[in-house]
Amino acid sequence: MSEIIETNDLQKQYRMGDVVVEALKGVDFTVHEGEFVAIMGPSGSGKSTLLHLLGGLDLASGGEVFLADRRLTRLRDTAITVMRRRHVGFVFQFFNLLPTLTAAENVALPLLLDGQSVKESSARVTETLEQVNMGNRAGHMPDQLSGGEQQRVAIARALVTDPEILLADEPTGNLDSSSGEQVLVILRRACDAAGQTIVIVTHNPTAAAFADRVVFLQDGALVHEILGGPFDVSAITEAIAHVNV
Ligand SMILES: Nc1ncnc2c1ncn2[C@@H]1O[C@H](COP(=O)(O)OP(=O)(O)OP(=O)(O)O)[C@@H](O)[C@H]1O
Ligand SMILES: [Mg+2]
Repeated sequence: MSEIIETNDLQKQYRMGDVVVEALKGVDFTVHEGEFVAIMGPSGSGKSTLLHLLGGLDLASGGEVFLADRRLTRLRDTAITVMRRRHVGFVFQFFNLLPTLTAAENVALPLLLDGQSVKESSARVTETLEQVNMGNRAGHMPDQLSGGEQQRVAIARALVTDPEILLADEPTGNLDSSSGEQVLVILRRACDAAGQTIVIVTHNPTAAAFADRVVFLQDGALVHEILGGPFDVSAITEAIAHVNV
């Protein structure tokens, strides 16, 4: 399997006046094409920071990020924006759907931004909504959808451009367990059926258990990983206990 994401000695410092927070202290992290990886770790360990740097949402303080063989850390802003739009889909904890657009319009948005007409985009939008089991809610506004349904629309919006990489920061963090499970089943299926590369950040052992590999961050450093998933939840809780010793 070829590497689609690679970081070398990745560092991030946040400077606030005289105080410097070392959020990432030299992270070497690799993700292979078609792999489903979960990032776990305590609050403040640098999980979101890592995910944002992988997707070019923020700039590194040192080290390198390679995304699909391009050195993200050396690209200029406009090139990073193009890279991100072509190669990366993002899903966030709070769905971030545009409230004045229907589910279908939200999903169409990345295609319209890429220059397609509404008509050109419609077949792909329908297909992607069906992929997340939301084909029957295309005309609903976000406030007419449950949290789990909104998150599935957000996943469809992230997948509609067929990005090589899907990055998700606590995609089930705001959902009840059954809605969360539906989201994870959809992500797992995207990985198994379409070879989608997926990296999620999660606090939830049940969510991490869906991944092929789980990596653990502590104080801005990768300290442990477990391979060979999908896992039993007990394997995740044992690994968490191991890391915290
Ligand atoms: N914009 C910022 N400015 C200053 N410090 C920041 C900023 N963003 C994050 N940090 C700090 O960097 C560290 C890592 O933050 P990060 O958001 O990556 O943690 P996390 O592992 O995602 O935590 P959580 O599980 O609570 O979401 C924390 O100590 C945080 O306070
Ligand atoms: Mg976070």
